[in-house]
Amino acid sequence: MGKNSGDYRFLKACRKEEVDCTPVWMMRQAGRYLPKYRKMREKHSFLEMCKTPELAVEVTLQPFELIDLDAAILYSDILIPVEAMGIDLEFIESRGPVIHNPVRTLADIKKLKVVDPYEGVPFVMEAIKILRRELDGKAPLIGFSGVPFTLASYMIEGGASKNYLEAKQMMYNAPAMFHELMQKITDTVIAYLNAQVDAGAQAIQVFDSWVGCLTPQDYKKYVLPYSKQVLDSIKGGVPRIHFGTGTAGFLDLLKEAGGDIIGVDWRIDLDTAWEILGHDVGVQGNFDSSKLFGTEEIIEESVKDILDRAGNRPGHIFNLGHGIQPKTPPEKAAFLVDTVHRLSRRK
Ligand code: CP3
Repeated sequence: MGKNSGDYRFLKACRKEEVDCTPVWMMRQAGRYLPKYRKMREKHSFLEMCKTPELAVEVTLQPFELIDLDAAILYSDILIPVEAMGIDLEFIESRGPVIHNPVRTLADIKKLKVVDPYEGVPFVMEAIKILRRELDGKAPLIGFSGVPFTLASYMIEGGASKNYLEAKQMMYNAPAMFHELMQKITDTVIAYLNAQVDAGAQAIQVFDSWVGCLTPQDYKKYVLPYSKQVLDSIKGGVPRIHFGTGTAGFLDLLKEAGGDIIGVDWRIDLDTAWEILGHDVGVQGNFDSSKLFGTEEIIEESVKDILDRAGNRPGHIFNLGHGIQPKTPPEKAAFLVDTVHRLSRRK
C-alpha cells in the first residue's frame, strides 16, 4: 500500500508521481494534543525532550499509534540551532519561546557562532538515525529547519511578535547589519539541513512562518536571496517543501526562492494558489486547523473542497495550513486523515 521505502506515497507525491491516494501529515503532529505527550511533559522540559534522542524519537512516533499518517516529522524546534548559535533560549509555558539576549547591535551579531551541527546539535542527527530504523517500512522521515527570516525575527525580537517592528527597524535602518545576521543564519541552516540529510532525513521542510508580515518588495530584497541559498544548497536531490504563512500575495516569490513543494495556509483557495505557483511545483496544504474543533461533517466538507481544488493532480500533499492546535481532540485528527485517504482514493 505504497509503504515500501522509496515507494511511500508521500515521497511519490513530492516527486509529482501518481499515487493511490493523497498523502497527508500534519504540522506539529507530535505534541500537546496527545495525552501521552502531556504525560511526558510533566517529567521533562520541552528543551530537554528535544535534546534527548530517545525522548525525541518516542514523541515523533506517538501520533502513529492513533493516526494513519503518511510521513513522520522529527520532533524538535526551529529554535534549536539558534540556541547553539549563542542565543539564551527559554520556553515559557503559555508564552512560548523567549530569548533573553535579543540581537540588536553589530557586536551582538559578531558574537554569534556559525554552528557546526555535529558539535552544536549532535542529538538531532542521533534522533534521525534511530528514527530511520524505527520507521523502516512504515513512513518516511521529514527533517526541517526554520529559514533565515523567521529565525532572524525571533533573534531580533526576543520572542514572538505582533508587528516585527524591531526586525523591520534593523532591516530598514541598518541593512548591512541585517544582511550580516541573515548570512550567518543561512550558513548555519545550510550545514544543519545537510547534516540531517546525511543522517537519513528523506525530505526537508523549511519553515518561514512569519514571512507574511513583509511587503512583497521587502521579501524579494531582504529575504529571498537567503532562502534561495538554503534551498539551493540541500544535497542529494531530497524533496524540499517550502512553507510560509500569509504568503498569498507573493507566492511567485516563494517559488522563485525554491522548493519542490510550496506549503500554503488556509487564507487562499488551493486551486488559486496552485495556479499562481504554476503546476510545475507541488502544493502542500491547506486545511484550517480550527475546523478540527468542528463536527465530522464540517471536517469532511472542507477536506472534500480542498481535494476537489487539487483535482487529483500529482504533487498535492494534504496538510493543515499551520500547526495543529494544542487542544485538538486526537480522534478528530485521526478522522481528518482517514477522510483524506477515503475521499482521495484513485479509482
Ligand atoms: O511538526 C512537528 O510535529 C515537529 C516539531 C515542531 C515543533 N515546532 C514542536 C514544538 C516543529 C516543526 C516546530 C516548528 C516551529 N517552532 C515553528 C514553525 C512552524 C510554525 O508553527 O509556524 C515555530 C514558529 C516554532 C517556534 C515555537 N515553538 C513556538 C512559537 C512555540 C510555542 C507555541 C506553542 O505552540 O507552544 C514552540 C513550542 C513547541 N514546538 C512545542 C512543540 C511540540 C510545544 C512545546 C511544549 O510545550 O510541549
